[in-house]
Amino acid sequence: MVKFSVNGQPVEFNADPDTPLLWVLRDSLGLTGTKYGCGRAQCGACTVHINGEPEFSCSVKVADVSGKRISTIEGLAATNPVAKAVKGAWIDKDVVQCGYCQPGQVMAAVALLAKNKSPSDADIDAAMEGNLCRCGTYPRIREGIKTAAAALTKKTPGSVS
Ligand code: FES
Ligand code: FES
Repeated sequence: MVKFSVNGQPVEFNADPDTPLLWVLRDSLGLTGTKYGCGRAQCGACTVHINGEPEFSCSVKVADVSGKRISTIEGLAATNPVAKAVKGAWIDKDVVQCGYCQPGQVMAAVALLAKNKSPSDADIDAAMEGNLCRCGTYPRIREGIKTAAAALTKKTPGSVS
């Protein structure tokens, strides 16, 4: 048995421990927001957070997440300021085209901004390079990240730096 948590809820998985985490999320838990793209760690559609780090869930065995915290796109709480800023920016900048890659893009962007609220272009490139988009929304993704970063670092009236 493999025990871990998904979006704050305890999970026990009793089948083959070599099962990819992506299959457990989608097929066993019904969390279909995380997408299956290539299945070979080459597209980023399946990106989730494992103990806060962005990982390709298609290429992680469920046995390897024993005792760890998994977050999926469904678990991005509205109360999480980074998630809120990214979701707002994605809407504001109309980032999404077909949408297929976007859960993975959002998870990668949230992981970046959780650590670095003022990413440079190079930081954004490095953080997002594993997430492909067939629709070519890269310029809007970059703008969305910058918009979210600006919202997260906005000074309130009367504040001093
Ligand atoms: S489906 Fe996991 S990286 Fe493509
Ligand atoms: S929005 Fe279509 S694949 Fe990225």
